[in-house]
Amino acid sequence: MNSLQSFLAVAPVVKPAAAAAGARLPSSRRSRVSSCLATPAPPPTAAPAAGAARRELSAASRAVMEDEAKYIVGTYKRAQVVFVAGRGCKLYDIDGREYLDMAAGIAVNALGHCDPDLVDAATDQSKRLGHASNVGYTVPQVELAKRLVEASFADRVFFANSGTEANEAAIKFSRKYQRVAHPDGDAPTEFVSFSNCFHGRTMGSLALTSKVQYREPFEPVMPGSKFVEYGNLEEAKKVIQSGKIAAVFVEPVQGEGGIHSATKEFLQGLRDACDEAGALLVFDEVQCGLGRTGFLWAYEIYGVEPDMMTLAKPLANGLPIGVVLVNEKIAAAINYGDHGTTFGGNPFVCQTALAVLDKIQKPGFLAEVTKKGENFRQLLKTKLSGNPHVKEIRGIGLIVGIELDVPAGPLVDACLDAGVFLLTAGKGNVVRLVPPLIVSEKELEQAAEVIRDCLPALDS
Ligand SMILES: Cc1ncc(COP(=O)(O)O)c(C=O)c1O
Repeated sequence: MNSLQSFLAVAPVVKPAAAAAGARLPSSRRSRVSSCLATPAPPPTAAPAAGAARRELSAASRAVMEDEAKYIVGTYKRAQVVFVAGRGCKLYDIDGREYLDMAAGIAVNALGHCDPDLVDAATDQSKRLGHASNVGYTVPQVELAKRLVEASFADRVFFANSGTEANEAAIKFSRKYQRVAHPDGDAPTEFVSFSNCFHGRTMGSLALTSKVQYREPFEPVMPGSKFVEYGNLEEAKKVIQSGKIAAVFVEPVQGEGGIHSATKEFLQGLRDACDEAGALLVFDEVQCGLGRTGFLWAYEIYGVEPDMMTLAKPLANGLPIGVVLVNEKIAAAINYGDHGTTFGGNPFVCQTALAVLDKIQKPGFLAEVTKKGENFRQLLKTKLSGNPHVKEIRGIGLIVGIELDVPAGPLVDACLDAGVFLLTAGKGNVVRLVPPLIVSEKELEQAAEVIRDCLPALDS
């Protein structure tokens, strides 16, 4: 019996506790979770009675949290829950409680938890060859590159290990491209990005990330980055026309920033301005790419193609991967030794990513995402819009935001107590819903009902 089978054999029977109006934990916590492909079965311990308003932390949970506080650098303000297993769109905590996962490991687990085909792909590959470095060739890496190129605007790809590393590579490629394009020595070296954007935490990507609190403690970050209001094409054009800009980085749909979608005019205007000025256009689809919007790539919604695109989160459903997709003019500027990584594109991760692509590219998969997303937003509007705290429900496909006029933390905590796991975004006033793309209509309805029932938490 493999780990998935043993998990199924003892799958927790506990259902999400019925939402209790006003239920909340004492502390307001933001969620940060990651995922795994094969998790051990949760212990068959008792869970709170249905309808219980609060989740009391068990001794087992507290022990993990205390050790975390003692042994792990305190960079995360975590949700008060210890996850030990997942299956489909459900997560299970150390006490056997079940949660409906509307976070998907921050838009990562597109195919949910422990998808049997992914478990098989990862298991088989790990028995053949897990890692060999980029010193030699490996088959899954080349195959994945081919699949990504065939499915996109790109001519070539570079593999990294995370979203920030993909953006870091895109920054380097931009600089190198401009240096080759300006052999006389006056290559533009600066970058434009936008308000509410998030591009990562390494020094280059961080320099392009708008949130001041993320950058300030680490300054000086990479110099030469300029921020323009998201959607303000006139302002962006002025900066791009300065001739100093190597590349413009933009998320077609902003995730961390609060679920804001670009308009076609904005992205087309950036494309035209970049072409006129000789700047590169980079789409960061780390969060919104690979089916999340109901389109394989978010740029397809707009009919505007970038010169480079970065991907990460869902591509290997939780195994670390990042990719830069580039057109030929950029690839032509990159030489041996210009960039590299030990782990990037290893066969274990790439074979799993191929299994993810197989499923997302199945006929009808993306149409389902679109349909479920539309129905979900409509359902949320019907159930929530009578509440005075709910300002807007927005998004596309299965990246959905509920903007509130107050911090979302108490609502997110109450929903966690009631068995639904959510994220926040924006300035903490947006509930972010990025469930696995395989979520069912019934599960989305359940999430909408729990959120509605927990809204009174916003008044306490
Ligand atoms: C749009 C976008 N770009 C880049 C990143 C950074 O990715 P990572 O956390 O894998 O470094 C994120 C992470 O949330 C993101 O949403």
